[in-house]
Amino acid sequence: MLNLVYHPDELLRKESEPVKNIDGSIAGLAREMVEAMREEHGIGLAAVQVGRLTRIFVTEVGGDDARIFINPEITATSDSQNTIEEGCLSIPGIYSDVKRSDACTVSAWDEQGRPFTLEADGMLARVIMHELDHLNGVLFFDHLRAGRRRRLLDRYEKARQKDA
Ligand code: NI
Repeated sequence: MLNLVYHPDELLRKESEPVKNIDGSIAGLAREMVEAMREEHGIGLAAVQVGRLTRIFVTEVGGDDARIFINPEITATSDSQNTIEEGCLSIPGIYSDVKRSDACTVSAWDEQGRPFTLEADGMLARVIMHELDHLNGVLFFDHLRAGRRRRLLDRYEKARQKDA
């Protein structure tokens, strides 16, 4: 079982490296990530969250199959935006409304090395943008205004100290 990495681990701030060769070990990692995401009741998980600085994320949004994205790139985002509450398996217990584009186009490779392009909207688009951020060392609270971010992180730190 893969172990999750939690904020404020510095690893979460690092940029992930592209996959050079989609081989059996990469496919295995991607499948293990799907298992870990399900175990944690998440709807998305990036490789950095299990300690691997590799450009892979997985999603499983309600009503959709599990999807694997290797070397993903968002090639277009809609001008129209919406506000949805986000959380993150690496920052347990805190949630906040975040404004993002409400649709995006993503190109990636699957675990068998086949390229694909997907036009996503709704919750799937939201998760894809959140997970792609992880590959660039960005966390969802980075999208918030400073005051709101500080309050959220104060709450997170207090809860962590209580649990420690
Ligand atoms: Ni996250």
